[in-house]
Amino acid sequence: MRVLGLSFGRKMKNCEILCKAALMEAEKAGHEVAFIRMIDMDIKTCTGCGGCGKSLDSGGSGRCIIKDDLPNIDEEFLKADAIIVAAPVYALGPSGQLKQMADRMGPSHDIAFLTNANEKRKADGKTGGQLVDPRNFKQRFAGLISVGGASTRSWVSFGLATMHILCFPSGIKVIDQIDAYNMGGVGHPLLDEDLMGRVRRLGQHVAAACGKPHDEVPFQGDEEGTCPVCHLDLLTVRGSTTVECPLCGSYGHLSVEGDKVKVTFTAAEQKRSRLNYDGKLEHYTEIKGFGAIAGPKIRAAGDALNEKIKTFENYNELKFVRELKK
Ligand SMILES: Cc1cc2nc3c(=O)[nH]c(=O)nc-3n(C[C@H](O)[C@H](O)[C@H](O)COP(=O)(O)O)c2cc1C
Repeated sequence: MRVLGLSFGRKMKNCEILCKAALMEAEKAGHEVAFIRMIDMDIKTCTGCGGCGKSLDSGGSGRCIIKDDLPNIDEEFLKADAIIVAAPVYALGPSGQLKQMADRMGPSHDIAFLTNANEKRKADGKTGGQLVDPRNFKQRFAGLISVGGASTRSWVSFGLATMHILCFPSGIKVIDQIDAYNMGGVGHPLLDEDLMGRVRRLGQHVAAACGKPHDEVPFQGDEEGTCPVCHLDLLTVRGSTTVECPLCGSYGHLSVEGDKVKVTFTAAEQKRSRLNYDGKLEHYTEIKGFGAIAGPKIRAAGDALNEKIKTFENYNELKFVRELKK
């Protein structure tokens, strides 16, 4: 089995040390391991061209068409049976490069898009290499390490939650996650034996999961969390006792007993978490339905809409931006 480590932090600083310490455990367990220092990689921003979706729908690989280092990383993702990711918290969430990467891996890695494209190809009589790369459907696992400098957890609020965007589209199951905040106070990870021990345990959990079916490997993080699916504590509250896990998109019921808050999520709501297949299928179905709604509306608006659009074109665009586009 193969375990891929990705560090989004500085060379040989906190994320890299923590990621490699976890990876070393996977190697000890007999797995092949590989490491990528992401800041050395050129990952351009998603331009929203939709090329990935169109390619997938027309029999292609669905991979992003932008030429940079993403295709190589993509290939490593597909080769891996598990990933260990460490990312620094910048401005409350993981550094921007992680989001750039997740955006670029969107529909082409979304297991609902891939499954539906594959079923259609099979129904059309396609076989072998004409089908979606079967490695996309491997039951893969992840361990996440969010690394923050501040001593208060309120400064790393969206770290771990946002790191899930690298995993849930592809259906990679996160089985362990560590909120390694207070690195400013720790000084260096190698000075904190508890943290190093915890990160090694994450590596062992990931190593032990490799090759197993998802449903045989329970979540092994330290904190069960408020949401039973992502095991995090973020909640969206909109004035009623119906609350939502913003990562999973599942609705829960909030009740207060004394000074304790209890949030329950039904089995059906847990199943429709976007971390599970059902949640992704729900979104896939919604997106695929948009054409039938928006298309006729836009066609009916005709030239009148085009005239309105023209008034927005180049509106107050700065000269240097116009020059850049030439
Ligand atoms: C631009 C920038 C923004 C940061 N924002 C936060 C933050 O919001 N919360 C926090 O706890 N740490 C923040 N930090 C500290 C980093 O998360 C911390 O130094 C981390 O260890 C960096 O990872 P590395 O050592 O692997 O490079 C920030 C650092 C930088 C450079």
